[in-house]
Amino acid sequence: MSTRSFPHGFLWGVASAAHQVEGDNSNSDGWLLENVADSIFAEPSGDACDHYHRYADDIAMLASFGLNSFRSSVEWARIEPEEGRFDPAAIDHYREVFETCHRYGIAPMVTYHHFTSPRWLLADGGWESTRTPELFARYCEKVTAELGDLFDVACTLNEPNLPFLLGALGLGAKTPEERRHMPMWVNAGAALGVDAATIAPFQFRATPQGYDVKVAAHRLGRDAIKSVRPEIAVGWTLANSDVQAAPGGEEVAARLRNDINVRFLEVSREDDFVGVQTYGRHVFGADGRLVGAAAGVPVNQMGDEIYPQGLGSTIREAARVAGVPVYVTENGLATTDDTERVQFLEDSVEVVADCLADGVDVRGYVVWTLLDNFEWIFGFGPKFGLVAVDRTTQERTPKPSALRYGELARSYMS
Ligand code: BGC
Repeated sequence: MSTRSFPHGFLWGVASAAHQVEGDNSNSDGWLLENVADSIFAEPSGDACDHYHRYADDIAMLASFGLNSFRSSVEWARIEPEEGRFDPAAIDHYREVFETCHRYGIAPMVTYHHFTSPRWLLADGGWESTRTPELFARYCEKVTAELGDLFDVACTLNEPNLPFLLGALGLGAKTPEERRHMPMWVNAGAALGVDAATIAPFQFRATPQGYDVKVAAHRLGRDAIKSVRPEIAVGWTLANSDVQAAPGGEEVAARLRNDINVRFLEVSREDDFVGVQTYGRHVFGADGRLVGAAAGVPVNQMGDEIYPQGLGSTIREAARVAGVPVYVTENGLATTDDTERVQFLEDSVEVVADCLADGVDVRGYVVWTLLDNFEWIFGFGPKFGLVAVDRTTQERTPKPSALRYGELARSYMS
């Protein structure tokens, strides 16, 4: 018997996101960017994991591991393929998905926006436009009116702070001028009929205006959800890196921690919870640059240090700053060596147990991710899944980590 204890009703789950698994999300901005000439995406998402058609088997499978929750997203581009026109077939589809969860005793945790947006939104200024918060709120209201009877936990926006994290790492966030010279943005601009410099997808621009638009969208979206069904617990989910300083890097780290984490966590003070998503730590040196993993330290498939302890710091930071309950809405490891994932999950669950033992109000632990899926610009290369997917046949094969995680979850469930 384990001596650790997790609260009654604690959610043990896996997370996924529509665009990364469903396939054929052809009305989305992601689809456009993947398929224009000179795309920076390694490959297009195509039929992804065909989860749009295979969701029932996928849900049955995660239930068979012994889990009790599934975080997935509804796709705005499917639900509102043209501005103001909602598609009843897409809504029916998600009703079936959530009803299937309930049939298997799985609590759905629903994300309203996970990176991708309708293509029309991008043509209309995307996540830099002051119209977007109202458009997002209207979509939130519609989704909640149609489907809100089927779930109790809702995430508005996924990782609004990611572009700021990528910017601090010297990745992503290109200036408008740089975009005018990057073929992918030029081609996307031509396809949309807009200036390449103005294109603002959710995860690729870090500007003060983008921050304001996302905060406003979150607040209006939350209020719209609550106006339909006040009992739904609403929050947003953040890319919470454990930002640390190497000697001399203290000032830089403090500034970046505020820019990337703290000011977003402060927004969560008005919410029912905050979703913490942690993949490790980032250490900054005196010159303001990232200090890479030390030689000989185990690294993940992306070359970053494997550092499960980071989750403990980010959970505590989130609880301290936001002052609301925490769900770990993503935590996982990209590796082709599943024994590393088993170890990572065992370590991470211990980290969560430590936080609980210290009195931190953590309500769930959700692993990224169920299936080896479409990992954005990296294509299908990185393997975050508990389950392997054959790219030709779509056959699913659970890895030992799926079984081990289920066993851990069951041993702690009450
Ligand atoms: C995102 C996921 C992504 C994962 C692993 C998070 O940033 O929410 O969509 O696949 O990290 O990179």
